[in-house]
Amino acid sequence: MSGTANGSVTISLDGTNQTMKLPLLAGSIGPSVADIRKLYGSLGIFTFDPGYGETASCESKITYIDGDEGVLLYRGYPIEALAEHASFIEVAYLLLNGELPNATELSEFDMSVRHHTMLHEQLRRFFEGFRRDAHPMAVMCGVVGALSAFYHDSLDITNPEHRTISAFRLIAKVPTIAAWAYKYAVGQPFMYPRNDLAYAENFLYMMNAVPAEPYKVNPILARAMDRILTLHADHEQNASTSTVRLAGSTGANPFACIAAGIASLWGPAHGGANEAVLKMLGEIGHVSAIPDFIGKVKDRNSNVRLMGFGHRVYKNYDPRAKIMQRTCYEVLDELGIKDDPLLDLAMALEKIALEDDYFVSRKLYPNVDFYSGIILKAMGFPTSMFTVLFAVARTVGWISQWKEMIEDPSQRLGRPRQLYTGPTQRNYVPLAAR
Ligand code: ACO
Repeated sequence: MSGTANGSVTISLDGTNQTMKLPLLAGSIGPSVADIRKLYGSLGIFTFDPGYGETASCESKITYIDGDEGVLLYRGYPIEALAEHASFIEVAYLLLNGELPNATELSEFDMSVRHHTMLHEQLRRFFEGFRRDAHPMAVMCGVVGALSAFYHDSLDITNPEHRTISAFRLIAKVPTIAAWAYKYAVGQPFMYPRNDLAYAENFLYMMNAVPAEPYKVNPILARAMDRILTLHADHEQNASTSTVRLAGSTGANPFACIAAGIASLWGPAHGGANEAVLKMLGEIGHVSAIPDFIGKVKDRNSNVRLMGFGHRVYKNYDPRAKIMQRTCYEVLDELGIKDDPLLDLAMALEKIALEDDYFVSRKLYPNVDFYSGIILKAMGFPTSMFTVLFAVARTVGWISQWKEMIEDPSQRLGRPRQLYTGPTQRNYVPLAAR
């Protein structure tokens, strides 16, 4: 049984005397859900909800969003408090285990992640199979999927120890894979992880260091990276997480499921949006061109969208966007970037959009991607790496959601239905007669 029984809703089939009581289930917060599991059996009908905007696909205790109020909680803790006070690795523990760790638990968890950062040496050669100009997300999909071919000693999903080892491996290895995808693209030697460095620090080291000279990670940039990872760590049943759950519901191994999540994250309507924001800002070029651009966005026939604005769930300011904006200033300040034309353009665009009735009436506010691209660009990341960074962070959320699903006794194969509008049964016509 999911949730708590909280009344019922009665539906009736017009034109018949058939009615049915759908039980209403209450969560700990948020709207109740109508349980339609017996609907087809009772009334012979399905529900129609393309994009699943009105459908709770599972029960979860991990992340809560109130899109109208702009609230995001990980295991009950507001994202603002976690971004301010917790490290990403602490957040990873919280998402996976449900509670904040004490000092010993945190240090043991951190050590376990640090001791899984290396890749099987043979994977180095796997990278060489890709073209140098491959998009790093293509490399991520391939290499993360390939982990299942290298770590098959932990693939028994019914074994809790295997699940834990796979979770550690995934969280620890994705930064190494991401940094190596970048190094491969720019033709620099792969840098091995350094386990004396903290998670975000080690990632920046593997991205930026070269073997020829010493490299010291800037602590302000490491803190900013850590916060960016926290902000992207989980976001309840979004497209990529639902992809991971759907793949996982078949019993597929976690490396394959996370690779599926990475593929789903790649699209511009999801994780690819921060890359698209920078492209858009580049195309607008100057503050003077904003009215013209806004005009195109409002023109129904143009298919132009204001990238980094709007969200399926948030109909208010995305709480992550506010933290991202602040982090953006800290990073630009640390790097001595006084007047960043892209930031000026982004701020002017945001101001105009927040006052324009088109955006106000549709409740379109900046989302997390609006500022993240500017920060990442200032930190030296090429745009093609933006979505990869998102994937590094979200791996923690994906694996937590996957683990929760596998451990849920009511879990069953995900198998949506459809409204079929194709041809009804017809006779095969032989080729000569067509
Ligand atoms: N720019 C202009 N108009 C927009 C935008 C936008 N960014 N987003 C939505 N709208 C308009 C739509 O045209 C529609 O208008 P209409 O009612 O006149 O037809 C209305 O707002 C509702 O839009 P939908 O597409 O139904 O909203 P949906 O919830 O499906 O879209 C989405 C959410 C895909 C994120 C959308 O807002 C979008 O494309 N935004 C830009 C891409 C982006 O920033 N994605 C990142 C999302 S956050 C993340 O993944 C981390």
